[in-house]
Amino acid sequence: MKNILCIGAGYVGGPTMAVIAKNCPEYRVTVVDINAEKIAAWNSDNLPIYEPGLDDVVHCVRDRNLFFSTEVDRHIGESDIIFVSVNTPTKTFGQGAGKAADLQYWEKTARQILRNANSSKIVVEKSTLPVRTAHAMERILNSNDRGLHFDVISNPEFLAEGSAIRDLEEPDRVLVGGRETTSGQQAIQAIVDIYAHWVPQERIITTNLWSSELSKLVANAFLAQRISSINAIANLCEQTGANVEEVAHAIGTDSRIGSRFLRAGVGFGGSCFKKDILNLVYLCEYYGLPEVAAYWEQVVTMNEYQQANFVSKMISAMFNTVAGKRIALFGLAFKAHTSDTRESPGLAVCRRLLAEHADVVLSDPRALNNARLDLGSISDKVHYETDPYRAAEGAHAIAILTEWPQFAELDYQAIFNAMEKPAFIFDGRNILNHQALYEIGFNVFPVGRPSFTNFPG
Ligand SMILES: NC(=O)c1ccc[n+]([C@@H]2O[C@H](COP(=O)([O-])OP(=O)(O)OC[C@H]3O[C@@H](n4cnc5c(N)ncnc54)[C@H](O)[C@@H]3O)[C@@H](O)[C@H]2O)c1
Repeated sequence: MKNILCIGAGYVGGPTMAVIAKNCPEYRVTVVDINAEKIAAWNSDNLPIYEPGLDDVVHCVRDRNLFFSTEVDRHIGESDIIFVSVNTPTKTFGQGAGKAADLQYWEKTARQILRNANSSKIVVEKSTLPVRTAHAMERILNSNDRGLHFDVISNPEFLAEGSAIRDLEEPDRVLVGGRETTSGQQAIQAIVDIYAHWVPQERIITTNLWSSELSKLVANAFLAQRISSINAIANLCEQTGANVEEVAHAIGTDSRIGSRFLRAGVGFGGSCFKKDILNLVYLCEYYGLPEVAAYWEQVVTMNEYQQANFVSKMISAMFNTVAGKRIALFGLAFKAHTSDTRESPGLAVCRRLLAEHADVVLSDPRALNNARLDLGSISDKVHYETDPYRAAEGAHAIAILTEWPQFAELDYQAIFNAMEKPAFIFDGRNILNHQALYEIGFNVFPVGRPSFTNFPG
């Protein structure tokens, strides 16, 4: 039996290893983390993350060939293949602060592997990293004088939160990059053999190390760019009377453009898009390509503008002041079907409204705990209500900030009756029936589409 180890039991490590364990019963898969609380949660009925379908997969394989542990050192010694999926956040200090990836957790892991290894191993980069990180990794690992050899493989993860299990079970493609040496090619094959248990051969792409590392950053940059592009156009629609959904449909039916990721809204969130684009920007600057860096940085600038502009529109519609007004924010998860609030537009809007002295109440089916944690020192300045009807009671306005389908199915007549008048609704995800809301009596403000107001004149 081969031993696979994964270092980092987060949004990537947990689900990825659960799916590998399920499809490869002859491998023993162990996931380790320095966070003991998280490991205890992975070993309980209350998993540390919400992801549709995850509970079932974990229950079926946990303690069969999937194990969660805090004993990092011991498991490094026993493993043949080590996936590393620790966090690689944006650096907050020193050179490259605000853009470059903070690789301290990454390097600590490399040194820990080296300290505890007693045989040669394959080390797999699962985290998203700057291109050429594998080079540094190889140098650290192969600096030993114990005759140990390490092959470093890049196998970036393309799962999207909210559909992680489906993405892992039926990936568009799996990418495996490695060295062109004999041992590099053998290491690539060892990783391909794992995925070949359930992924069709033609969907497993092998490349050199640098193409693989760079492709992950480029994929996220292209996806985020589509959102910023349609959001940029949404602003022009609002000024001209065009409807962004009609424009998106008209251009998306062009097979060269395609219809996905063309929903205008309050902007993208999540732990990856902003961080990975800024990482790409930093790499371009580092390699002396300032125009290329500026081109990609604009995707992030546009996203920040979209969030700020959404709040400006709220303030202006509500007679230029929201101070003391109760405002209900529906949706703190950065997107539907996840409990993750990292970089969530809901929290960005919340912070801006607090700065305007609004009385903010947050509602979300899954993400309220994380929202409270993320708000940190200002978490006691807002109210939390799981029930959206209670959140809306006495509110002047509601803003929809996550596309949870349940928000489209609420009884808006009952909500309207319980609100202050005039009642406003700002649909930051364009998921509601705007005409119906207008007929109830709401003043309705979608994104990139004409607004409906019940004020005379
Ligand atoms: N979240 C996503 O949707 C997604 C998708 C694709 C790729 N990625 C990339 O995958 C990587 C991990 O992302 P995530 O969302 O799973 O992060 P996460 O923060 O949820 O999980 C990372 C885990 O690593 C652990 N860790 C850090 N240092 C450690 C060490 N030395 N030893 C053991 N454990 C350690 C942390 O305690 C944490 O639990 C990042 O590089 C990210 O960019 C994320």
